Amino acid sequence: MLPKGFPLETFLKYSGLALPRHVSYPMPTAWSDKDGEDYVQKLSETDPNNPLSIYLHIPFCETLCKFCACNRVILKKSFPGAEEKKRKYIDALKKELHLFKEKTQTQRPVMLIHYGGGSPTYLEPEEIAEIQNTITELFNVRPEAEISMEIDPRHADQPLVDMLGRLGFNRISMGIQDFDIQVQEHVHRLQSLEMVKSVTQSCRDAGLGQVNFDLIYGMPYQTLETVRDMVEKAISLGPDRVAFYHYAQIPDKIATQRGMDYTKLPTSEEKLEMFLEACEVFTDNGYDLIGLDHFAKSDDGLAVAYRNGTIQRNFQGMTTHRGLDLVGFGVSSISHLQGVGYWQSEKEAESYEEVVESGKLPQQRGIHFSEDDRIRQSVIADLYCFGTFDPQKVSEEFGIDAQKYFEKELRALEELSEDGIVHFREDGVVEATFPLGRVLLRNIGSVFDAYLDPDAYKVGDKFYFSVSA
Ligand SMILES: C[S@@+](CC[C@H](N)C(=O)[O-])C[C@H]1O[C@@H](n2cnc3c(N)ncnc32)[C@H](O)[C@@H]1O
Ligand code: SF4
Repeated sequence: MLPKGFPLETFLKYSGLALPRHVSYPMPTAWSDKDGEDYVQKLSETDPNNPLSIYLHIPFCETLCKFCACNRVILKKSFPGAEEKKRKYIDALKKELHLFKEKTQTQRPVMLIHYGGGSPTYLEPEEIAEIQNTITELFNVRPEAEISMEIDPRHADQPLVDMLGRLGFNRISMGIQDFDIQVQEHVHRLQSLEMVKSVTQSCRDAGLGQVNFDLIYGMPYQTLETVRDMVEKAISLGPDRVAFYHYAQIPDKIATQRGMDYTKLPTSEEKLEMFLEACEVFTDNGYDLIGLDHFAKSDDGLAVAYRNGTIQRNFQGMTTHRGLDLVGFGVSSISHLQGVGYWQSEKEAESYEEVVESGKLPQQRGIHFSEDDRIRQSVIADLYCFGTFDPQKVSEEFGIDAQKYFEKELRALEELSEDGIVHFREDGVVEATFPLGRVLLRNIGSVFDAYLDPDAYKVGDKFYFSVSA
């Protein structure tokens, strides 16, 4: 049930807009052709003491989950040639790591390593060791570094978990999505509570430390009851953090999502109820809501950093590691040099392998930030992390008069405040209201996106972002 007096009509009016979640700013649609030489050049101009964060993309999955919007390659292990395909990719990944080291000669301390996918657990334990050992040989990995992996519990047996423990992994993110059997059958992803419980326990026994869960709401056959049950089951296993993703539905881009039963999708109102219900159950059980869609135990480092105002959002979610330069390896991976730009590698495994085999780095597209990009990126990051826009902070950080610089945007925020989505605090900070503003963060963030098509802001017959000004 919605909270008493919740302005449902206002919510429905705004939530119907197709707005981005701003995992990056500027969004990839604003990026253009760039290459590895450009990336290395820009990296050489950055602070050599600034620590690095390394991301490795392992694209393979044994089977397809119908909802999946990740960059993945479905490769049944029994398929003829699968082993060779995997070996070719691992060799290319190792070669890319060597090429990067040769070209940059970087000695920068590495504070964070994350394996994502696809499914890193598609690899055999020895193959993970091969890649991880290459990283530790080439780079200055600090003993206190966070080393994490996305784990598919259906493919995380004891030898794999033990290997991660031996290699020094200290955080895992487990893909759960839902516990409900009807939902699981529909999306082609079967995994029992017992399986998740046993893998969670074996990760803890192997000293893997922190355990995060990924859940999704808004998929076909999910109801308020099944979502409540999913959240309660997840909490019963005591994860440190939970990413509670809204189902991203883009069937025109992701052909496999067209197999979902769209007649069984929950409505916007039902999805809102699911989110608010989850907020209540999580907070009643000692978790804090962080940003748009993350929960963390109140004493977890992420929740503490959230209260201190030091969390950061990155391509993998929320992190306590602020300000690191991100270097991505593998097909489609993204690198982010702070204040400088983004670079993305070839998106198809075969072209990625070809480029790397020819001795070149695989970056293909990207963007160099302008000063305006940097300012807006900082504002958007604060909005999605903390739900606030603080003009004074922005003025001090960038040496501008933010009240003037964002005159047009502040007018749009005033319109949003009339609808109860934000409120102007006495100290000058503009804050998303709870719950309405928090569930409409994209609408607030989009006000600051200079690249968005003005039509994106149209609510009814008026633009809440005054484009003529
Ligand atoms: C690369 S997968 C995780 C690792 C592993 N492949 C697995 O599924 O367990 C990353 C996460 O993205 C999320 N995800 C994938 N497609 C999504 C979609 N369409 N909407 C929302 N979240 C999605 C899922 O929660 C998934 O766990
Ligand atoms: S959700 Fe994970 S296992 Fe499923 S297809 Fe996507 S990346 Fe692969």
